[in-house]
Amino acid sequence: MKFAKKLIAVLALVPGLAFAAEGGFPLEPAPERSDLASLQNGAKLFVNHCLNCHSASAMRYNRLRDIGLTEEQIKNNLLFSQDKVGGMMTTAMRPDDAKTWFGAVPPDLSVMARAKASPSGTGADYLYTYLRTFYKDDARPTGWNNMVVPNVAMPHVMWQEQGVRQAKFQDVPDPHEAGKTLHKFVGFEAVQPGTMTQQEFDTATADLVAYLVWMAEPAQDTRKKLGVIVLLFMTGFAFLAWLLNKSYWKEVK
Ligand code: HEC
Repeated sequence: MKFAKKLIAVLALVPGLAFAAEGGFPLEPAPERSDLASLQNGAKLFVNHCLNCHSASAMRYNRLRDIGLTEEQIKNNLLFSQDKVGGMMTTAMRPDDAKTWFGAVPPDLSVMARAKASPSGTGADYLYTYLRTFYKDDARPTGWNNMVVPNVAMPHVMWQEQGVRQAKFQDVPDPHEAGKTLHKFVGFEAVQPGTMTQQEFDTATADLVAYLVWMAEPAQDTRKKLGVIVLLFMTGFAFLAWLLNKSYWKEVK
C-alpha cells in the first residue's frame, strides 16, 4: 500500500520533470518534405555543410541510392576525394581538434533526429527550430548563439544563406516574483541579408531536416512493407490452423 502510494507520487512527477527539463524556446513544427527531390537536396546540404565537423558513422554513402541517386551521381557530387562510395560518412576532423577549436565535440548525427524527440516536439521539430534560430552574439567565442541551445559551441554554418540576424531581448517584470525582471526574447532583427529569402531558407532547412529524419531510419519504408506481409501471412496461417484443428476434431465427435 505504502509502495503504491509512493509509486503514484513518483509517476505524477514524471511529466512535470520532463517538461521542466525541456521548457525552453518553443519548437516550430517542421514542414513535411519527404519526396525524393527534397531528400536529395537535404543530402546535398548535409554533405556540404555538416560533414566538415560531424560524422554520420551509421550511414554509408551508397545507401543514398534509396533516395533515388545513382552511384555516379553520388560519386560525382557528394563524395570528397578521400571517400569511397561504399564507405561510411565519417568526418575529417579529429575529436581532439574539435574540442580545442569549439570547446565541444560535434556529436555524430546518424540518429540525431530520433534522439531529439521530446514532449515539446518531434526530433524533426527540434532540428528545424535549432537550425533556424542562430543569431549574432559577439560575447560568444564563435560569434554566434542559438535560441534552442543557449551558448551553443556550434557556429551558424549557413549564415551566408540565411543572412545575419540579431536577437532582441526586453527586460520585463517577472509575473511570478515582484521586483524581479526577466530577459525576454521579443524577436529577430535582420542585420545583413542572406543569399536566400526567408522562405527559401526555411524550405532548404526543411529538406535538410527531412534528410536527417530519413537517415535516422533509412529502413523504415522497407520495415513498414515487411510488416504488412508478415501480418497477411499470419492471418492466412491462422486460418489454415483453424481448418486443420476442425478436421482433426471431426473424428472425435
Ligand atoms: C564548424 C563545425 C560544425 C559544423 C560545420 C556543423 N556543426 Fe553541428 N555542432 C558543432 C559543435 C561543436 C557542436 C556541439 C555544440 C555544443 O555542445 O554546444 C554541434 C552540435 C550540433 C547538434 C546538437 C545540438 C544540441 O542539441 O546540443 C546538432 C543537431 C547539429 N550540430 C547539427 C548540425 C547540422 C545539421 C549541421 C549542418 C548544417 C552542422 N551541425 C554543422 C559543430 C559544427
